[in-house]
Amino acid sequence: MAGREYHLGMQPSRTGAPSRPAPAASPDPGDAADALALDPRRVAVAHRLDPRIPATVPGFDRPFFQAGLAGYSDSAMRRVARALGSPFCVTEAILDRALVEPGWKLDPAELFAADASDLPLAVQLIGSQPAEMAGAAVRVVELARACLGDQATGRLVIDVNLACPVRKVARKRRGGHWLAAPSGAIELLRAVREALPPDLPCTVKLRRGSDDSPAAEADFLRVFEGAYALGYAWATVHARSVEQAYRGPSQWRFLRRLVQAYPDRLIFGSGDIWTAEDIFRMLGWTGVAGVSVARGSIGNPWIFRQAAQLMAGEAPRKPDSREQRRVLTQHLDLALGLKGERAGSRHMRKIAGGYASLHPEGDRVRAAMFRAQTRSDWQAILERWYPG
Ligand SMILES: Cc1cc2nc3c(=O)[nH]c(=O)nc-3n(C[C@H](O)[C@H](O)[C@H](O)COP(=O)(O)O)c2cc1C
Repeated sequence: MAGREYHLGMQPSRTGAPSRPAPAASPDPGDAADALALDPRRVAVAHRLDPRIPATVPGFDRPFFQAGLAGYSDSAMRRVARALGSPFCVTEAILDRALVEPGWKLDPAELFAADASDLPLAVQLIGSQPAEMAGAAVRVVELARACLGDQATGRLVIDVNLACPVRKVARKRRGGHWLAAPSGAIELLRAVREALPPDLPCTVKLRRGSDDSPAAEADFLRVFEGAYALGYAWATVHARSVEQAYRGPSQWRFLRRLVQAYPDRLIFGSGDIWTAEDIFRMLGWTGVAGVSVARGSIGNPWIFRQAAQLMAGEAPRKPDSREQRRVLTQHLDLALGLKGERAGSRHMRKIAGGYASLHPEGDRVRAAMFRAQTRSDWQAILERWYPG
């Protein structure tokens, strides 16, 4: 990658977003108090998937998925999530230029596995120029064909990021910037849609607005309606504002109002999903058709299996030590294979907190993981803390 990051490298410290805070209650009762009164098990068992989801993306057969997470949702994390039940995944936001400018060296192997094990997949693009975004979208399709041949047909989605709140990103007229510039946002969406074959689904990631003003909500609605009018299959709405970044709750009430106002639209929700139960609280309380699982999945891919268990009427099962070891080993092998030993080890240290928190001696395990620099350091941690 020639030392240049092609994804946003959005780190918790820069966004002010703790990757895994301990929520007092989820969702925040101030916004959706009665969501806490719902029985997520009943919602899960009774849930019927909106048939438009698998009709749009064959294989997307459960109402939740691995969210795009810059710096996290690489193919290693995605494959671990899939193995535990996520039917669909979103890449990190990829800067359009990384795909169309010669100086950028995006390694296709980081985007696409050599086989179908990372499908169906949404490749998420972020950018500021309609022509560049369109060119990048076309390039993604070419790369998918080159890496996967016919296997990618019907299992690839292009997702447009109009949500990223990082100031540096918005200043460059990317991501969340566009929610305050609806005409430009629609041009961007149009350019991407028109550049791709009509049967290749496009989707969009939004926040609920640039801030809390009525003008911001009107701008949001223009972009939201504009996306569907252009043929976008769904919008995933993170119910925090751009200004809010990650402070305060995701306003599920906004999602509920949106679903009530647009009952025929396929709308997915995002924000404050920390447990498998939260997925069904959001589905049941807001009426969205699908739930994006973001920080709650970092170092806790079992959230997907637990959600599937709830749907099957079973009690969600926590992974025992043997299973934690197996999945951590799988994640490590994939991450070190993808990024190399040193960079992969550094990368895994970011995710370690989540994995360690499932361990009875979480603090000590976390401290050991934060020091790991090589494969043998990780091996020693596994032997010491996850015996057997
Ligand atoms: C570190 C970090 C990186 C993120 N990167 C992306 C991204 O690349 N694309 C995207 O659509 N959303 C991204 N998000 C937003 C999440 O997908 C999600 O919408 C947000 O975290 C709210 O969900 P949560 O409160 O359940 O975590 C990111 C969030 C965090 C914390």
